[in-house]
Amino acid sequence: MPQRDLVIDCDTGVDDALALLFALRSTSLNVLGITTVAGNVTLEKVIRNTLIVVERSGRKVRVLPGAARPLFGTWRTSELVHGNDGMADMFPDPASKPGEEHAVDFLIRTAMQSPQPVEWLTQGPLTNIALALTREPRLEERVRSMVMMAGGITAGNTTPAAEFNVAVDPEAAEIVFRSRIPKTMLAIEPIDEGAWLMPEDGEQLLASKAPWAHMIGQLMQWQRERFKAFGADKPEVMYDPAATAVLIDPSIAESKMMHVAIETQGRFTRGMTVVDRRWFRDLLGDQPKPNVNVVTRIDNARYRRLFLDTLLA
Ligand code: BDR
Ligand code: CA
Repeated sequence: MPQRDLVIDCDTGVDDALALLFALRSTSLNVLGITTVAGNVTLEKVIRNTLIVVERSGRKVRVLPGAARPLFGTWRTSELVHGNDGMADMFPDPASKPGEEHAVDFLIRTAMQSPQPVEWLTQGPLTNIALALTREPRLEERVRSMVMMAGGITAGNTTPAAEFNVAVDPEAAEIVFRSRIPKTMLAIEPIDEGAWLMPEDGEQLLASKAPWAHMIGQLMQWQRERFKAFGADKPEVMYDPAATAVLIDPSIAESKMMHVAIETQGRFTRGMTVVDRRWFRDLLGDQPKPNVNVVTRIDNARYRRLFLDTLLA
């Protein structure tokens, strides 16, 4: 099977690192480049972390610097979850440097020039994607599809209503969710319920001689210990790799076209993905058309298999 051309946009923290290695080691994907955005940590740290990941992946892929802040306001970074450097505070600085082209230019250029339609995978706030769509509206026809780790179906994690990637830049999310690019949304709930890994998966990866698998084992161990120290003792949930898995093999998930609006105002709900799940909405006749393919369930056994087979191959 020919490889699918893909650009990944990310804010490399711990789960982004797993997701990047998963995509970079997949034989079905041709990663054209990785664009970076401020999110879990500052852009500078995100670039550093992404370069480290690419160096461990055994692949040669460009890392492009993107937006250093959301479209509006400031945001709260996520060192509590990802460590002070955003990636578990354990890796030395990379030897490689980022590319000179800006992420937004790269997203536009690769989509407009590629002989076959490009796909996008987003793992962070949607700032770069919104800027690209605003600069070049023809992207709506050129990008075949995008899979996003974004939002919640009923709840959030950064606030009770809003998930981190949308909470950081709700205006950008609104631009993206309104676009005509075919979109799949991986919200926190199907990931919490279906996309976890077991401690023995982490041990198997840690024991591997392959630098990419070993790195994942290190990150999983770090996260397990950190979360245990916080009082949580549950299976290993990593958010971003779930989006990679669904991109590689959509048949591991159940999904449904739904209407999703982004709340950009809201005293308590700014950054919420308002998912219309009303069974009778079609009977009303005047409702906006469903705009997003929302993943509702992930088959855990198949998810783990795909992840481990790809990384341990
Ligand atoms: C998302 O927020 C970030 O902290 C993770 O990297 C993931 O992309 C989960 O809400
Ligand atoms: Ca992320």
